[in-house]
Amino acid sequence: SWTPEHFVDSMVLALQNTIGPDDKVILGLSGGVDSSVAALLLHRAIGPRLHGIFVNNGLLRKDEFESVLHSYKDLGLNVRGVDASAEFYAALAGISDPEGKRKAIGRTFVEIFDQEAQKVEGARWLAQGTIYPDVIESVSVKGPAVTIKSHHNVGGLPEKMNLKIVEPLRALFKDEVRQVGDALELPHNILHRHPFPGPGLGIRILGDVTPHKVDLLQRADAIFIDGLREFGLYEQVWQAGVMLLPIQSVGVMGDERTYEQVVALRAVTSVDGMTADWAHLPYDFLAHVSNKIINQVRGINRVVYDISSKPPATIEWE
Ligand code: XMP
Repeated sequence: SWTPEHFVDSMVLALQNTIGPDDKVILGLSGGVDSSVAALLLHRAIGPRLHGIFVNNGLLRKDEFESVLHSYKDLGLNVRGVDASAEFYAALAGISDPEGKRKAIGRTFVEIFDQEAQKVEGARWLAQGTIYPDVIESVSVKGPAVTIKSHHNVGGLPEKMNLKIVEPLRALFKDEVRQVGDALELPHNILHRHPFPGPGLGIRILGDVTPHKVDLLQRADAIFIDGLREFGLYEQVWQAGVMLLPIQSVGVMGDERTYEQVVALRAVTSVDGMTADWAHLPYDFLAHVSNKIINQVRGINRVVYDISSKPPATIEWE
């Protein structure tokens, strides 16, 4: 029968047999479970000949880039962190349309990743953390007007650099990936991390993206996610995040009238993200988060909770 330990042993051997003894492998790391588990497997098989590249697109959660990069280094992985926030903000300037933002983010990612990959001399392979559900459903459909969501991956790099693809997790479901990660001692904070979209906070800021909006959203999001952990709710929800809405509403602060941003909290329970129910979070928890956001994040004066299920509402608002 299938066990994660057996999978690790046989995959490590298979990787060693497939990848030549001097070959270098490039892997894009995202901080997510899949790419991290793929990295640990390859690290076990070929050590520092695995060259991980972790791009900060400026749209990650608060402090995520630094903390995840730190975890990777602690694991002994050969990873280069690349802060390309400025390039992503420049590419996104003035774009409000969700698909336009996804394309700008995807295109910039490919550019940055290409540049970094080309610095790895003599690379022969491109590794990807593709898992079985990605193989069968690599695109999803959103909205009434059937637009295909463009999941970004590494564009034309394999052809350009003449790289062969290696996908060690291709036969696994998510829960199996987690078991393998556990067997490889992936830290708990990465292993049990909620799913997070590639375009990141870029599709949780409705309308155009600016560094100031990213800062507001990162602070509100951190209060929500830290709150879920403090209240022991983090692992009871499948995914959670905050949406920064493109509207302002009136509030009062002391004798002053304010006219500031609204955020929506989104938390769902789900098995695979294909269908989802809004999480019935306790009122005292929601009250705590709402007060903390409004008191601590100047520029946000109203918090609402999204009580829509999927379908028809998607998890992300864009
Ligand atoms: P929706 O919003 O379609 O999301 O209910 C389902 C799951 O997919 C994630 N998601 C994305 N992931 N690129 C990604 O890598 C994207 O463009 C994208 N859009 C949505 C979403 O966070 C949820 O986990």
